[in-house]
Amino acid sequence: MKNETQDKEGGVSRRDFLALSAFATAILAGLGIMAGVFRFFKSDAKYEESRSFKIGKPENFPVGTATKLADKKIFVFSDDNGIFAISCVCTHLGCLVYETETGFQCPCHGSKFNMAGKVVGGPAPRGLPWFEITQDIDGSLVVDTAREVPAGTKNRYS
Ligand code: FES
Repeated sequence: MKNETQDKEGGVSRRDFLALSAFATAILAGLGIMAGVFRFFKSDAKYEESRSFKIGKPENFPVGTATKLADKKIFVFSDDNGIFAISCVCTHLGCLVYETETGFQCPCHGSKFNMAGKVVGGPAPRGLPWFEITQDIDGSLVVDTAREVPAGTKNRYS
């Protein structure tokens, strides 16, 4: 005689199989809910590296000097009217420009810029940006490459 709760051929009764299926479904549903809750509380905020950095004290940039800060991809100049920072990233495809007697030149496709960073030749679509310089409370100059200023903006710092 066949037992109602047990299938002799497979060894697992229909009732047990349904109970196991329900249990597995409940576990999967629980994991899905937990994943949703985790995603809900997990922040999607992306933290961008600051584009503002200290470059040192004003006395490090005496009048008449041009300093290339290669790791920061800027030139820092100092003349009689003040200190200013110009990008050394070519506005064409991002190669690093170098100084020439008349301004800057890009080694990649030949763009040329005058001393103010204005395009005077080549494929660059716009001039080299000038960046805001501020002075920190400790006297250090701070360049913010996220904040452009009009070409020709120079300030004196003490
Ligand atoms: S990247 Fe400078 S000219 Fe093309």
